[in-house]
Order: sequence, then C-alpha cells, then structure tokens
Amino acid sequence: MVAAGIFVASLLTLACGKPVSRLMQRHDVRSDVPSGFVQGGPASPDTMLKMRLALVQSDPDGLVKALYDVSTPGSALYGQHLTREEAAAFAAPTSETQQVVNAWLAENDITATPLTPAGDWLSFSVPASKANELFDADFTVFTHESTGKQAIRTLAYSLPADLQGHIDFVHPTTVFPQFKLNRAVSFKPLKKNLTERALPASCASEVTPSCLQELYGIPTAAATQSSNKIGVSGFIEEFANQADLKEFLENFRPDISSSTTFTVADVDGGSNPQSRDEAGLEANLDTQYTVGIATGVPNVFISVGEDNTDGIDGFLDEINFLLGESPPPQVLSTSYSFNEPELPFSLANNLCNAYAQLGAVGTSILFSSGDGGVSGGQSESCTTFVPTFPSTCPFVTSVGATQGSSPEVAASFSSGGFSTLFAIPSYQADDVSSFLSSIGNTNSGKFNSSGRAFPDISAQGVDVVIVFEGETGTVDGTSCSTPISASIIALVNDKLAAAGKPPLGFLNPLFYANPSVFTDITSGDNPGCDTNGFSAQAGWDPVTGLGTPNFASLLALAGL
Ligand SMILES: *[C@@H]1O[C@H](CO)[C@@H](O)[C@H](O)[C@H]1NC(C)=O
Ligand SMILES: *[C@@H]1O[C@H](CO)[C@@H](O)[C@H](O)[C@H]1NC(C)=O
Repeated sequence: MVAAGIFVASLLTLACGKPVSRLMQRHDVRSDVPSGFVQGGPASPDTMLKMRLALVQSDPDGLVKALYDVSTPGSALYGQHLTREEAAAFAAPTSETQQVVNAWLAENDITATPLTPAGDWLSFSVPASKANELFDADFTVFTHESTGKQAIRTLAYSLPADLQGHIDFVHPTTVFPQFKLNRAVSFKPLKKNLTERALPASCASEVTPSCLQELYGIPTAAATQSSNKIGVSGFIEEFANQADLKEFLENFRPDISSSTTFTVADVDGGSNPQSRDEAGLEANLDTQYTVGIATGVPNVFISVGEDNTDGIDGFLDEINFLLGESPPPQVLSTSYSFNEPELPFSLANNLCNAYAQLGAVGTSILFSSGDGGVSGGQSESCTTFVPTFPSTCPFVTSVGATQGSSPEVAASFSSGGFSTLFAIPSYQADDVSSFLSSIGNTNSGKFNSSGRAFPDISAQGVDVVIVFEGETGTVDGTSCSTPISASIIALVNDKLAAAGKPPLGFLNPLFYANPSVFTDITSGDNPGCDTNGFSAQAGWDPVTGLGTPNFASLLALAGL
C-alpha cells in the first residue's frame, strides 16, 4: 500500500507537478466566509505557512474507558491514574498511520516535527504555493474587520485518498481564528478603602477570601505538600501582576505573608510583564483567588502567548505542554471560553480528548461556564441557546456562579445548558433526566436535550473583591467561581497527598455519585435569547449544577 502510494505520487509529479483531483478527496469545505471576516486576494506564493496535521488517534475510546476506570468511585482502578506514557499511548497514531503519513511527507521533501508527547500532531512549514499543491487548496488572505488582524485560510482542502482515515484534519485550513475569547467582566472600583477588617464575614455585600472561608468551610492553615500544585491559565495577553497580588494579600489575607506568590510557565511565547498598567483583570482575579484561597499550594500561572497556531487560541498547546510535565498540576483553573457553535467538531473533539488524557493522569480540570446566561459566554441576541466550550466537553468540570449568602442563589449571568456536539455522559444522565422531566416543554426546541449538560457545580461570582492596577474594586463572573472552586479542590488534594493518597483527578463521576456533598442552590435563573432561561431548583440544574462546595464534606467524600 505504501509502495503503491509512492508510485502513483511520483508519476503525477512527472505528469504535471501537481496532484490530480481524481486521486485527491475533499476533506473539508466551508460554505461561506465566517461573519466578521472579509476575503482578500490569494496568499503570496512564498508566504511560509506553519501547517499542522492531526493524525487519527489509535484508541480514543480506550482512553475514555481508562479515564472512567480511574475516576469512577467503586471501580477497581479508582485513583490509579495513568502515567503520562500510558495516557499518550491511547492518543498515539498506529504505526501504519505513522508510516503512510511519513511516506507522503517524504515524497514531498517535508520533515515534520511532533507537537505532542503522543505524536498525534505533526507540524511543518511550507510556502503557500506548496500548501496549495499538497492540499488542493486556495490559501487566501482574510481580514478580521473589527481587529484588522489577518489570517491565511482556505475555504476547502483535500487529502490524498489513501490518507483518509489516517489524517483527522489539517490546520490552518477551514477553521478561522476566534479573536473572541470570553473572559471576566468589567471592574467596578470601590469608593471606600476596603480591607478585610472592614467587612462582614458573610459574603452578603462584597466577597473576599475570609467570607469564602466561612461560607464554604475553607481552611486558613497553609497546605503542607510541595508536590501538590494548582495551575492557572492565562490567555490573550492577560498578565498577572505581582504588586497587585501583594496588595491584595496585605489587605485581604493579613494572616499570611504578603510575598506569597506564583511561578510562571510560558507556552507559545507567553510572558508576564510586570508594569502595573499591563495587569489583566482576569489574570489578577485568577491569581488572587488561587494564591489567596489555596493557602500554601504551589501555584503556577501558565501564560499562553499569541504565537499559537493550534486553531484554538493556544488551548491545545497548553494541554500538550502540561502533558509533558512530570507531574502536571493536579488542578487546572481556566476562566476563558468559546461559544460552542463557533468551533468545528473535529477541533473541539481533539481538544476534549486532550483533556481526557490530562484527566487520566490525575488532573482536575475546571472551566468557567460563561457569563451570558443561556446566550453563551457573553450576553448576545440569539434564537436558540448557545452552549460554551470547553464546558461542554464531558471530561472537564464546568463551574457556574452564585451570589448572596442567606440563602445563596443563582447569579443571573451563570451560563448553562446542553451541548450540540457532545452526547450526554452516563455519570450525569439520571440527574439531567430528572431536571428535564420537571420542566416539561419549557424552552423546547431551543436546546439539545441529548447533549452533555453543564455546569457541574457553582460558587460565588458576584461583587468579588480584587486589586487591579493598585485600586480595590469588584468583579462579577463565573471567572470568579472557577478559581475559588479549583482552590478548594487543591486544598483537598493537599490533604490526600499528606495521607499518601492520589489526587481527586477527574471530578464529575465522583461528584454526580454524591450530590449531597454540595449545597443545592434552588432559586434564580439564567435568562437569555429572549427567554427566562433555566431555573435553579432542587437537584442538578443548568444554572448552578449540583450546587456549591463545602470543604469538610469534600474531605469526607475523599475518605479523609
Ligand atoms: C484611601 O487611602 C489613601 C491612601 O492611604 C488615602 O490617600 C485616601 O484618602 C483614602 N480614601 C478614602 C476614601 O478613605
Ligand atoms: C444533539 O446532540 C446529540 C448528541 O451529541 C447529537 O448527536 C445531535 O446531532 C444533536 N442534535 C442537534 C440538532 O444539535
């Protein structure tokens, strides 16, 4: 088969220097230019394009089974997380795939570099003229109207027929950049000079570390295990400012050293410049509410730069970087998201499988559910509900938002709903089906009731106090709820590590099997798309999930 491929290809080269369409098979076609982009002229023939091939993985189903085996309480393998190598073996392409793809690249004088530990992504650079030839494509310059940024893409591409089944997809081709990552909302400066001592303990007005400690029973004592880490994702040039963190700790954690801080890991040319006016609202929030809550847990801020070519703003590069770490952080907190309809299934599924790999090695992966209620990451007009990704990936834990403390109720912006790409996983099937039967025909036709449902849990997300550029103020968003929840998990992992036990890892099968450890949130809703959205109610709901965490209950659940 390999020999035949070479023979055909070299004949063609002799004949016309360009593969003939009958041997090529269309792999993907876009019917239109995505809104917001304007089509320009052809890419200049000698512009170098950094191409990536996603090879078909040998055993994605085996990976998912292994993930559930180590994450489902009662399973004989519960807690026995895979090594990096074991997890990568499921994602690695078969030797046949490697052989046929390498032979095709060699015929074209291309040397590719593996991008992942599993070798399921390959990268190489070729001039646009060569890329047009290789993929029977028309690489064209497109301009994003609102940012003026340019992207070279093709509206269709092909693969040699004998490589179908070996190459999953090629990037950059038909997938356009998002330039539209959802993140934390605006900052409201506080008129008063706020410090911890001036606040009530209850989270009723402003939310600070001490009221969260009281509300969720979070310990103030420092963690003891240096092997246990928490990772905090940073994207789109959001920088985490050390001086703001210091001021935050001085005012709101006077019981710990104000020089407590995080380390920085760079992916895709990321950095973390420290001039005060370059501080990012989201990055400050995320580092202040992990360093400030997960007391004493080593904290790494993962700054993902703009130099990414994974088609998904560096999200995939970040996970592949972490899969190369030994060990990766046992908890990862990310408060950025996409609207699911903007992503093709191929790319979303590839990234979701990377989360399954990271979960299988023992990392709990938490994402904010979004701040637009049922209308997606941010409030927008819509006719059908807009789910957010990665929350819709079944292998991550999605976090919604609440507010107030007596009782705690849903925050009206808390995104939640149902995936149109990923089917409902069995761990949540019963809870979701109870919810669906309770609502009858409400919102019917506006969401896909057989999709993965989110969020899974929730936590405080309104009037959360941070320090930003030297000023104290508040922010709202599921962006707050995520680092708070992630910090609680990291503190449970510290206790587990101290007892010589494995970390919690992928949380959802454990959580859905034990809903009573959460404080059920039963009022509030998440309006959007000209509807009232869904309502929080007894049991799981697509506004606040199973409810808000409690440290002592989680410790008991972890067997401590
Ligand atoms: C806040 O503190 C600053 C510096 O300590 C001081 O100059 C300012 O007057 C204070 N503002 C209020 C409203 O108390
Ligand atoms: C609903 O979700 C299922 C499971 O992911 C999927 O197979 C189906 O195509 C979806 N339907 C629509 C209309 O999105």
